Amino acid sequence: MLQDSFGRRFYYLRLSITDVCNFRCTYCLPEGYKGLPEDAFLSAPEISKTVQAFAKLGTEKVRITGGEPSLRKDLPDIISSIKATSGIKKVALTTNGYKLDKNIHEWHRSGLDQLNVSIDSLDKKTFKSVTGHDRIDEIMAGIESAISLGIKVKVNAVLMKGVNDNLSPIFEWLKSNPATFRFIEVMETADQDVFFRQYHRSGGAIKQQLLDDNWQSVIQDQAAGPAQEFWHPDYKGRMGLIMPYSKDFCATCNRLRVSSLGKMHLCLFAEQGVDLRPFLAPNIPIETLIEAIQGHVSDKKLGHDLLNHNSGAMQNLSQIGG
Ligand code: GTP
Ligand code: 5AD
Ligand code: SF4
Repeated sequence: MLQDSFGRRFYYLRLSITDVCNFRCTYCLPEGYKGLPEDAFLSAPEISKTVQAFAKLGTEKVRITGGEPSLRKDLPDIISSIKATSGIKKVALTTNGYKLDKNIHEWHRSGLDQLNVSIDSLDKKTFKSVTGHDRIDEIMAGIESAISLGIKVKVNAVLMKGVNDNLSPIFEWLKSNPATFRFIEVMETADQDVFFRQYHRSGGAIKQQLLDDNWQSVIQDQAAGPAQEFWHPDYKGRMGLIMPYSKDFCATCNRLRVSSLGKMHLCLFAEQGVDLRPFLAPNIPIETLIEAIQGHVSDKKLGHDLLNHNSGAMQNLSQIGG
């Protein structure tokens, strides 16, 4: 079992398989960011070995992230090989939805259980101004297919003051769609400090609006992770909030990360990561990899370093898989 020195247990691995993305969302990538060439990223056998090692250490859920993971042509094979790993119960994917509509059936056949889609606004114009393209209708159709296939769906929107913080269209959508719509507080990463100051809005204000509107907090167990969820008797869907600046956010941290270059990160922020890649070569016994992973977990700090604006360690989320 993987456990840190604060008693937090890690059954959930976020595994990034590429840092390339085909969108240029305003809050995310620095201008001119190119990403690395395709062959730089973990190969399918390296991914499979990583997952096997984590599974032997008690990991039960793997979320595939990026960059944009669906840009990898071998994504269906990656999903099925993770799913076939002994001990893994759930395979999840976080995507920008660009290829969702066309590929959801194949991903489902490969064994996908959970799907999180980044959609910053349900309004066409706003969506285009944030992401730079207008495929929102296709993305929403893909989400409906996923729901009808029995896949658990969450929509993620980065909360931006005055841009997407009107709740009415979201409530309208949640009336009939059994999905969770989550706001993520914008985090100050790399060179995004100006953007952060202009658009950051506290999720606490949204929480208050929800409570005033009779939404109820979902009682979650310790293993549920740092997001807070809310339900309402009149809606099929739920609301959720990810508030990394709120007190005790990290107390329920349940996740570890491996980047697309094979670095293991104990937190999204303020840590350079430990290179697992040398241990992923076929001639290295899996036990050696397991020891490397286990040895690193106890170093996990209690919380992130987001409030330390001068830490110099902030990175863009595309590089570590969000
Ligand atoms: P579930 O598996 O459904 O619980 O989803 P998740 O929240 O773990 O994954 P998802 O990929 O949907 O996360 C969306 C975004 O939330 C990430 O890209 C980050 O911006 C933010 N986020 C998720 N987990 C963390 C976390 O542990 N710490 C911080 N600071 N942000 C997080
Ligand atoms: N703040 C919060 N979330 C971010 N993401 C990327 N950059 C940021 C940031 N600065 C996450 C969001 C988004 C996905 C593409 O990456 O979850 O939906
Ligand atoms: Fe865990 Fe780091 Fe996220 Fe906090 S910021 S919940 S410690 S990954």
